[in-house]
Amino acid sequence: MKILVTGGAGFIGSHLVERLLREGHEVWTIDDLSTGKKEFLQATLTHPRHRFLKGTVLDRALLKETIQQVDLIYHLAAVLGVKNCVEHPLKVIEGNIDGTRNVLELAYPERKKVIFASTSEVYGKNSRLPFHEDDERILGSTAIHRWCYATAKALDEHLCFAYAKQGLPVTVLRYFNAYGPRATATAYGGVIPRFITAALKGEPLEVYGTGEQTRCFTYIEDTVEGTYRAMNEKADGVVINIGNNQPESIMKAAQLVKQLTGSDSPIVKVPYEKAYGRGYEDMMKRQPDLTRARQLLDYLPTIDFTTGLSRTIDWYRQQLTTGGTEQ
Ligand SMILES: NC(=O)c1ccc[n+]([C@@H]2O[C@H](COP(=O)([O-])OP(=O)(O)OC[C@H]3O[C@@H](n4cnc5c(N)ncnc54)[C@H](O)[C@@H]3O)[C@@H](O)[C@H]2O)c1
Repeated sequence: MKILVTGGAGFIGSHLVERLLREGHEVWTIDDLSTGKKEFLQATLTHPRHRFLKGTVLDRALLKETIQQVDLIYHLAAVLGVKNCVEHPLKVIEGNIDGTRNVLELAYPERKKVIFASTSEVYGKNSRLPFHEDDERILGSTAIHRWCYATAKALDEHLCFAYAKQGLPVTVLRYFNAYGPRATATAYGGVIPRFITAALKGEPLEVYGTGEQTRCFTYIEDTVEGTYRAMNEKADGVVINIGNNQPESIMKAAQLVKQLTGSDSPIVKVPYEKAYGRGYEDMMKRQPDLTRARQLLDYLPTIDFTTGLSRTIDWYRQQLTTGGTEQ
């Protein structure tokens, strides 16, 4: 198949491009390199079945021409990160809504399937665990910028289903905290990249809040596996959680990073207010119900946290010694 990956030079996108090429597909990548990096595509840039287009999903002419030539679209291009929401809410709102509308609008007349990358953030502060795809969304006040990403992605999901109702094949994937090689700390402040970078540099590992909050960290290989399988038409017209279902506390993640790196860095607690400013809100727990992923895609995560972290740390060590990707 000929497949377009928007955001294909990003963390998840670049791994997906590699996987699609390995499976024998022809891949077109559109990325504006705002957070993505050409070096993430080092292994694939000169591949005869890969075409990289530096451009934006806000460029409708480029998107139209490309969509006409492919069979399927993975739409991953997005402006993300809690830090970005707090510091640049307008960029996050516009970056997530306008691009997705373009992709869906232009895929619709061609009836090209769109697989949309959404997020577990959409569930917000819902405390009923694990999160089932049809559960309620509980978000905070609109005065709190932190919620603008979840709100924009939720509106994107509505757009997906509005087009699905008109006959467009669409699948929405809700990712749970992906991590692994190429997840960088500078782009949007993911906790695992932050901890590893600090540990390797001998700087304090800053745990925001009590550290008792838990997340289901998903190794990139598992994220990509679920994403790849979403091509299956059984997944048309639904939302599917893609993640690991093993919760880990942030404090434990810091301790494990410290242990696996052999670092002497101290672990220090930092109040949310100091990290993100006044009025910040966080959810204590997040865990996916994977029943639907298993039923429709035969998907189950396979990489445990220690293995995934060790592989990620190896990549970071390599970057620091070769002076690669700025962390
Ligand atoms: N990483 C996670 O844990 C996670 C969790 C939930 C959802 N997601 C979603 O998965 C997708 C990929 O995330 P990621 O972690 O790889 O982030 P990323 O920032 O590494 O990837 C996003 C990519 O989109 C590109 N991009 C941004 N705006 C663009 C535009 N207008 N046109 C073209 N390209 C543009 C960036 O340059 C980058 O390469 C995103 O949609 C994100 O919302 C990620």
